[in-house]
Amino acid sequence: MSVNKEIKRITTKTLQEMKLGGEKIAMLTSYDYSMARIVDEAGIDVILVGDSASNVMAGHETTLPITLDQMIYHASSVVRAASRSLVVVDLPFGSYQGNSKEALNSAIRIMKESGAHAVKLEGGEEIRESIERIITAGIPVMGHLGLTPQSIYKFGTYTVRAKEEAEAEKLKSDIQVLQQAGCFAVVLEKIPAKLAQEVTASVKIPTIGIGAGSGCDGQVLVIHDMLGLNKGFKPRFLRQYLNLFEEINGAVKGYVADVKANDFPNEKEQY
Ligand code: KIV
Repeated sequence: MSVNKEIKRITTKTLQEMKLGGEKIAMLTSYDYSMARIVDEAGIDVILVGDSASNVMAGHETTLPITLDQMIYHASSVVRAASRSLVVVDLPFGSYQGNSKEALNSAIRIMKESGAHAVKLEGGEEIRESIERIITAGIPVMGHLGLTPQSIYKFGTYTVRAKEEAEAEKLKSDIQVLQQAGCFAVVLEKIPAKLAQEVTASVKIPTIGIGAGSGCDGQVLVIHDMLGLNKGFKPRFLRQYLNLFEEINGAVKGYVADVKANDFPNEKEQY
């Protein structure tokens, strides 16, 4: 039985109740109105306006180039479509790492200009002060540990994180920091399933995994990946539910052929 069956809008409190009740949290990314409308109506709990928009919407190699203004544009489109889901927005690279005042100003801009419900930041102890300051201003914060793509040039690779003892210990300590700072949930990206299960059991706030196994309190995927729009991207953790690249490619080919053959529009399709 779902704890959110009768709920009009999922809140951070709902997610907390879901963890307590053992109900898994389903989160997906969206970046535009039309997709967010489908995702919201399908019953997703949380929509993440991820900075993965930099990759899948803008075609950049990394998440680093996307700007705060661009994130606000994507987020406001999603917010207009989401009548039930909680909408969380990534603070993009360069909008919060400078100092806690910059972080707070960026978070306020997202909330004020997009109408979103929460923000997400990558990192642990290093950004504790920023997280505390944002939460003090009344803005809910989701954390993000493990593979943090904004630090890709530090890691040098998108491979699984925290396989070594030292990094695993830092992650275990960072999740406690995020909980104490007041985060309402934490994304765990690409870490060993056993570690994810252990840290999930060590905190009261929900963990949401991507490539972190089934022991997390919820799961998140990039919508373009799970719909098969991101051709050629097939990491082990990804379950692809459709092959929309091929479907859309076929539809466009059909349209081109119909136009060339003067078969579209036909008599019923004109005035
Ligand atoms: O930007 C994003 O889509 C994310 C998810 C992969 C968690 O941060």
